[in-house]
Amino acid sequence: MTFRSYSKINFTLEVGSKRADGYHSLESIVQTISLYDTISIERADNPEIRITCSHASVPTDEKNTVYKIRELFINKYNINKGLRIHIEKNIPSQAGLGGGSGNASYTLLALNRLFGTSLSAEELAELSSHVGSDCPLFIYGGTVFMTGRGEIIKPLKPFPKFYFLIVKPDFSVSTKEAYRKLDERTEIKISDKSSLLVSLNEKNLLTELNIGDYLTNDFELLCKDKTDKIKAILKSKGALCSLLCGSGSCIFGIFPNREKQTEAYNSLRTEYSVFLAESL
Ligand code: C5P
Repeated sequence: MTFRSYSKINFTLEVGSKRADGYHSLESIVQTISLYDTISIERADNPEIRITCSHASVPTDEKNTVYKIRELFINKYNINKGLRIHIEKNIPSQAGLGGGSGNASYTLLALNRLFGTSLSAEELAELSSHVGSDCPLFIYGGTVFMTGRGEIIKPLKPFPKFYFLIVKPDFSVSTKEAYRKLDERTEIKISDKSSLLVSLNEKNLLTELNIGDYLTNDFELLCKDKTDKIKAILKSKGALCSLLCGSGSCIFGIFPNREKQTEAYNSLRTEYSVFLAESL
């Protein structure tokens, strides 16, 4: 069985205070996008899991999110079957695109089909949340409103299709460290941008021309100098607006159409690590 494991961007990402369990409460509008890894799963005779990956930097042991979700699944449903799993990586790591989290969730969806366990979306989302806070969003996909520590998902009426160009700068971000740095803020403020975006979309008034007024990401505070430089480059190539992806380090730009997006891609690809994507 071979399937795609998609990535995501956040149109809004606002982080509240640290909770008693160490996680931070947050509000975010998330969109799954067409940039994907390819995962293949084959049953094996001996009850072992073997993971291989096209990228040497991705761990293939118990630190891999696919390994973790498979452990949770077989322990819960007592399925003692071996699996061979191969991950063909396209999504950059430590980039804020949810690549590792998506790998776990899409694998769980596949295991649910492979073993006929018929788990509901709620059950799959709950199980996946034990691997990472932003795993459940991939169970639903599309445009979603994410709250709690990231595990509470409300599917939204899909936003219009946007054409993205994603730039991976030459630095990576540790999510844990980024959240820790946000604790040094003197002021925490959750704006009304998420709810304004939702109501604009409900009225069919949201377009690539006005979405820029509502984009916001608290993590930009931590790497402003570096992101501003890339945002300026994206703007000079025709992006209407741009924002940091998740806790970083990628930056996405939104383009008026596929043509402009492709033009910008071709002009930046020799100098930068760039990726084409569109809303799912
Ligand atoms: O949930 P996940 O394991 O992906 O999160 C990685 C780290 O990011 C956590 O250990 C925590 O330090 C931080 N985090 C947080 N608040 C969230 C999500 C993640 O502090 N809502």
